[in-house]
Amino acid sequence: MILLYPPVKIAVIGATGIVGREVLNLLEKRHFPMETLHCFASLSSKGKSILFSGKNIPLETLSEDKLHGIDLAIFCTKKEVSSKWIPYLARQKTIVIDNSSAFRLDPDVPLIIPEINLKMLAKHNYVIASPNCSASIMLMALFPLHQYIPIQRIQAATYQAVSGAGFHAMQELTSATQAVLEKKPHTPKEFPFPSAFNLFLHNSALNADGYVDEELKMLQETRKILSNPHIQVNATCVRVPVLRAHSQALNVTFTQEICPKKAYELLEKAPGVKVYEERSKNRFPMPIDAAGQDDVYCGRIRKDLSCANTLDLWVVGDQILKGAALNTVQIAEHLLK
Ligand SMILES: NC(=O)c1ccc[n+]([C@@H]2O[C@H](COP(=O)([O-])OP(=O)(O)OC[C@H]3O[C@@H](n4cnc5c(N)ncnc54)[C@H](OP(=O)(O)O)[C@@H]3O)[C@@H](O)[C@H]2O)c1
Repeated sequence: MILLYPPVKIAVIGATGIVGREVLNLLEKRHFPMETLHCFASLSSKGKSILFSGKNIPLETLSEDKLHGIDLAIFCTKKEVSSKWIPYLARQKTIVIDNSSAFRLDPDVPLIIPEINLKMLAKHNYVIASPNCSASIMLMALFPLHQYIPIQRIQAATYQAVSGAGFHAMQELTSATQAVLEKKPHTPKEFPFPSAFNLFLHNSALNADGYVDEELKMLQETRKILSNPHIQVNATCVRVPVLRAHSQALNVTFTQEICPKKAYELLEKAPGVKVYEERSKNRFPMPIDAAGQDDVYCGRIRKDLSCANTLDLWVVGDQILKGAALNTVQIAEHLLK
């Protein structure tokens, strides 16, 4: 496997975004061994700086010159920026971990959740993709069960936080909420519809079959991560007025019966997963529990009374962490010699 030799020369591209900021936090908090750190953002951040480990790091704009000699580039930008710059970096033998969807389905690019398919990382040829946040959160909860009894079909309904759409979208929910409370007009810019006191189908592109991109990512990326082209995933993705952490109602059909007790037992010992509930109080995971937490929270596992071999689960995870930044930094840690 192509490895990183510490201390590492790192570039974080999209450092001012919601994922980029969290990547910087994690690199600092987890003491990632680095020799140099370069932070990149768009032209609109030119001349500004960002705080890392008590120091102001100037924000740079992308150019071949400035990317020269970097060992590891972590992309936290939309897919157009990743598509433009990652091939150049791979050619100059910089290892790249990308948070966007640009290369996720490329057969030559491993799509990695370390707790699930770490062995695929060895196949990387400088480019590694981190999966869609909804797919990651769902698979963190389901993989321990799938290892015990294979899953045949997943029906997912998601309740996705606004921060999944980026830093400005998160700010928009706050300002929109304030405007509603003050009875002032508010025109959404980041979302197509008002986000405060409202919900709407996920704001990714709608295709001719009536699915949005986010729903198809949950299907396609699940198949790639589990190396199983037959697993069935049917999702309905919804944006809700929550700042941080996605929730999911999962209805999962297995090839054989699995009882809720066994499912709890498996999830209780699964890495990166936390069973979190107090049945006597009807209390199950909420976004405010999972926000800022590394673990994906699970609970309310019950037998589907209407369908054989099927369980229902409620899952909540911080999509900025395990759905993006944390997963990326964990991948980088596994690349260290
Ligand atoms: N948000 C999530 O929960 C989440 C989860 C999983 C995956 N992702 C993916 O992660 C990526 C980043 O998402 P995000 O939510 O962090 O977005 P964001 O908050 O909108 O941040 C976007 C970042 O990209 C920078 N940028 C824009 N154009 C650039 C350019 N030409 N060159 C360099 N930097 C540029 C922005 O810089 P300025 O500040 O200068 O504009 C900003 O730092 C996206 O592909 C997204 O789909 C996000």
